[in-house]
Amino acid sequence: MRHLMSPLDFSVDELEDLLNLAGDIEKNPAKYAGACRGKKLATCFYEPSTRTRLSFEAAMLNLGGSVLGFASSDSSSAAKGESISDTIRVVSCYADICAMRHPKEGAALVASQRSGIPVINAGDGGHQHPTQTLTDMMTIRSLKGSLGNITIGLCGDLKFGRTVHSLINAMIRYPNVKFVLISPEELKIPDYIREDVLRANSIEFEEVERLEDAMGQLDILYMTRVQRERFFNEEDYIRLKDYYVLTKKKMKLAKQDMLVLHPLPRVNEISVEVDDDPRAAYFRQVQYGVYVRMALILTLLEITV
Ligand code: CP
Repeated sequence: MRHLMSPLDFSVDELEDLLNLAGDIEKNPAKYAGACRGKKLATCFYEPSTRTRLSFEAAMLNLGGSVLGFASSDSSSAAKGESISDTIRVVSCYADICAMRHPKEGAALVASQRSGIPVINAGDGGHQHPTQTLTDMMTIRSLKGSLGNITIGLCGDLKFGRTVHSLINAMIRYPNVKFVLISPEELKIPDYIREDVLRANSIEFEEVERLEDAMGQLDILYMTRVQRERFFNEEDYIRLKDYYVLTKKKMKLAKQDMLVLHPLPRVNEISVEVDDDPRAAYFRQVQYGVYVRMALILTLLEITV
């Protein structure tokens, strides 16, 4: 039985197979419509979500399966003090596969060690968000043609941004990928990513504070939200929340074929006036998230069509 905790749980070849499967699902949805008939997905979400939970549910429903679950810790027996280990043993009696989001780093890993069914990490605190990364990779590969030979600008909350950490981990395995890390001093990338992932693998990167200084060289601009829920101090959040706002004026500094991605939700960091720019790809990214989660469910349940 296989779980997904990090994008690195799949080899590059396995990721290629997964993205090819997601691409086939996009082209031939009817072929997969009954692939999971009789199977159940549990969504155990201890933290708010719109995209991840609903796209997992849409993915399983598209495959002909069923869904059950909870959307907050308050509406589960976690509120009565039940441990994750006990919860997953119970959920294993009801479902065939589980997607779990939790505010604590490592929570999905703990669950996977006690689970009788595959567990997918749907975001664990500020650590990893592997299915967002699969979504990002499918978006880049579909719209850019390949995952190599690109310069990716990561902008905003690089300290707590689990989507950023997962994406860097995954993309360093492709040739000639360079990163520009754009953040205020307080939200710089954690040392373990800078030293143990980027420097340890001799990946080219630079750190800048001004978005304008980076725009002209980017093939992908990955914007992120400053996450109120990760701050200990409201004053710091208020000071930093509008540090970056992508506007039409700033888009004039970018290449004509640069893509703007964002895991969403957006707050103020991308002005709505950018939404009509053909380079704004963040809503197309949402759609790719359904195909890639369908492919992941099939892969972890070892169902071939
Ligand atoms: N991208 C993402 O994880 O969005 P949600 O928090 O709405 O699931």
